[in-house]
Amino acid sequence: MTIPGSFLDDLVSRVDITDVVGSYVRLTKRSGSSMLGLCPFHSEKTPSFSVNADKQIYHCFGCGKGGGVINFIMEIENLQFRDAVEILAKRAGVTVPDSGVSDELMGKRQRMLTLNRDAAKHFHEMLSSPLGQTARDYLAMRGMSKAFITKFGIGAAPDSWSLLMDAMIRKGYSRQELLEAGLARSSRKEGGAYDLFRNRLMFPVIDVRGHVIGFSGRILGDGEPKYLNSPDTLVFSKSRNLFALNLAKKTKAGMLILVEGNIDVVALHQAGFDSAVASLGTALTAEQARLMARYTEMSVIAFDSDEAGKRAALRAIPLLEKTGMAVKLVDMGVSKDPDEFLKKQGADAFKILLQRSENHISYKLMSVRNNYDLSTDEGRIGYISAATAVLSELESKPEREVYGGRVAKETGVSPESIQMEIAKKFKSRKTRARKDFEKKVTRPREAFQQTDRQQREANVVSAVAEEGVIRCLARDPMLISIAQDMGFSHTEFTSTFLAETYEKLTKRILESRDTRASLLLSEFDAAGAARLTNILEKPEALPYSEQSIREYISKIRSEKFRSVVPDSHMLLEIKKFREQNGLS
Ligand code: CTP
Ligand code: MN
Repeated sequence: MTIPGSFLDDLVSRVDITDVVGSYVRLTKRSGSSMLGLCPFHSEKTPSFSVNADKQIYHCFGCGKGGGVINFIMEIENLQFRDAVEILAKRAGVTVPDSGVSDELMGKRQRMLTLNRDAAKHFHEMLSSPLGQTARDYLAMRGMSKAFITKFGIGAAPDSWSLLMDAMIRKGYSRQELLEAGLARSSRKEGGAYDLFRNRLMFPVIDVRGHVIGFSGRILGDGEPKYLNSPDTLVFSKSRNLFALNLAKKTKAGMLILVEGNIDVVALHQAGFDSAVASLGTALTAEQARLMARYTEMSVIAFDSDEAGKRAALRAIPLLEKTGMAVKLVDMGVSKDPDEFLKKQGADAFKILLQRSENHISYKLMSVRNNYDLSTDEGRIGYISAATAVLSELESKPEREVYGGRVAKETGVSPESIQMEIAKKFKSRKTRARKDFEKKVTRPREAFQQTDRQQREANVVSAVAEEGVIRCLARDPMLISIAQDMGFSHTEFTSTFLAETYEKLTKRILESRDTRASLLLSEFDAAGAARLTNILEKPEALPYSEQSIREYISKIRSEKFRSVVPDSHMLLEIKKFREQNGLS
């Protein structure tokens, strides 16, 4: 699925990266054409994420991410290249030209979505048929209203091996299509297949664009597994979607409530909490957290009250926090989950719970406390040290005091000394943050080198020169004639990444295509784009002249010879080479 390069170049030139990034990140003008904001890709308190309007690229001094506008959309929206291009094209009001292959793939996706929709309709119809009696009884027993059954498109998969398959084949789908959509599974018998979902309550999983992308089937009553989810397919990825986000994204509640079970989701919506979502049978993923953060600034965890639920909450907190969302937890006391709480105590009580919902800090304290034995002196000292470190992360002073007071009570140490310990750590954290920031802003060179070190090349000296060649060419494509005159080619690179970059760049130049960074970057994946941005943004000691590219190439060549023990023949070659290249 190749999109013509000329189209991509044109597209990237049509959109303004500061507009695009600006709709995700609050940017403030820094100096000249550069804007600064909090990096959306790692958590930070002082901004190190910069967008350069002239060059149309972004770059984070903190985590080293970087690229052009397409890379940004791919990264922040978790999209494949093609989908990111589609989004930008829509924004720019142009249509992406389709090549044959992508047509076929798009066709396949489209057809799978239609099949899913038809399957959802089938399940929903089954619910009101005689075969849906068990499911109807179950829904009634759980207190689900007709209106919400319809709203969620809930259905029934009766106890049969091929009811869905037969119905879909009658509609013109093939067995193969049902297998690929994860609705059927092949049986031992050659060419045989059977329905994946049997005797289950069916929840269609609908994405934020309204497509039915998969299903969760809950067992009717007790049994294992409680939920059966569609496998990942061409249109479905469990780790990148959330159940009911299609509904919850419209909430005015200013928060998303994250729960465990689909039943809990429906129960909450029915009780007026229209912002409940659930993950799809996996522990919450970073992608799901980022997805939530696109729609809200506050997440509330309302997992089951059992040990498993508490553990899952502790794992989810850092992922949610990382996105910059505020994270809260509700404690439902003796009720095992939101559904039970609503039934026992009612919606008003849940509303109060939400308002009161605890800052996740008490959870963190609890998890820290579990590591220490508070009945011993060492245990208490260890706990105080760890707990005050946690509390020093709090920005609000009253919060630090309230929780500090708690730690004092738990350990029998005076509140004053706990407070002093927290204040000390708080202050040193602030100082560290300020110094970091100053360093980033005033000495970008060092910040760059740090990210370089992570991608250390076998021959650093050569790699630095190789980067130089690339920088020269990117800034001034005319310099390619020098490289050509010197008979230089990508085979002389020691770094695979840089060799590939050089090839891409020279190909562009020879095809007379623009070599602007913003355009070139579309050809790279996230890691490549980040690395290339770092290279292109590195402060340059030399001006981009014929002289500089010559020196870089010579450096690469002299390094090559230095890394082997030369025999007499080679020594002659080196001598010749040195003379040719004007090296002493
Ligand atoms: N789960 C799953 N697939 C889904 C949704 C949930 O595998 N699509 C898993 C969750 O990870 C969790 C459990 O199933 O471990 C669901 O939690 P629970 O709250 O018990 O489900 P409910 O339907 O609400 O069941 P119950 O009525 O027993 O509360
Ligand atoms: Mn539940």
